[in-house]
Amino acid sequence: MSTRIILDCDPGHDDAMAIVLAQGAPEIELVAITTVAGNHGLELTTLDALRICSLCDIRVPIAAGCASPLVRPLVTAPQIHGEAGLEGYSWPEPTVRTVPDHAVDLIIDQVLAAPGEITLVPTGPLTNIALAVRKEPRLAGLVREVVLMGGAFSRGNQTPAAEFNTYVDPEAAAIVFGAGWPVTMIGLEVTEMALATEDVFQRIDAVATPVARAVSGMLRFYQAQQLSSVGIPAPPVHDPCAVARVARPELIECRDAYVEVELAGKLTAGMTVTDFNPAAGRPFNARVGISLEVAGFWDLFIDSLVRIGG
Ligand code: RIB
Ligand code: CA
Repeated sequence: MSTRIILDCDPGHDDAMAIVLAQGAPEIELVAITTVAGNHGLELTTLDALRICSLCDIRVPIAAGCASPLVRPLVTAPQIHGEAGLEGYSWPEPTVRTVPDHAVDLIIDQVLAAPGEITLVPTGPLTNIALAVRKEPRLAGLVREVVLMGGAFSRGNQTPAAEFNTYVDPEAAAIVFGAGWPVTMIGLEVTEMALATEDVFQRIDAVATPVARAVSGMLRFYQAQQLSSVGIPAPPVHDPCAVARVARPELIECRDAYVEVELAGKLTAGMTVTDFNPAAGRPFNARVGISLEVAGFWDLFIDSLVRIGG
């Protein structure tokens, strides 16, 4: 029995890998893709989604969403994801198009049409997800689960305190963690274990399909960017970890916690303040990823890449 998901993303190299995994994993039924501003502006994150969906022959509704965070100005990540979008591969014109619906409306309509069945998998800033549950509060009781890539309980990567997705739109993240629906936070403690080592590159290259060649080229660009900007030789591929949690939950150990997003801190805005102590008296509102079964994660990704073919 596969799990039906809507992937809300800001492609972005690792978002593109999350789309590949969602399409290839047998445990996942990809219902729709929605895009949000984050790694790039909305026009480019949407073009990138169309590019990867065209390459993988993904024929699901793709809807563009919010072009800026709820309150703060947009911060993008060209130092990691470049300027032209999914650099590392020569992209032809996309063969698929967006639907006219706004992402927020597509999310609402899909969930209302399938109560209790849809898992939302956000892998970018949470602007679309927050607006969806604000516009249609019934979503909090109708969404099967929210499994998001974002946050961390012990570190940041945009600032020492905050991870990029929750840093870009802290107000949206606060709405998502406070909406009362089941939330699983796949944060940096998990995703920084998903490193694209040379062994991973060799396994991807051995698949030897057009999709694998695109993934390899993109990942090499992403590796070079991470090396030059962060000094990391084997880059963490964050977003596929959220999809992996849905496909094979046993790959990611989680613990229940209370998570609240810092909004006022001059140095800590966007920090996902996490309390694992049940005696603190604050009701647990999230499952928080603790660790990743690394070999099993990469086996899942490579198997999905093979299944896509292309
Ligand atoms: O901090 C990593 C997250 O920020 C990933 O989702 C990456 O794509 C960027 O959006
Ligand atoms: Ca992302």
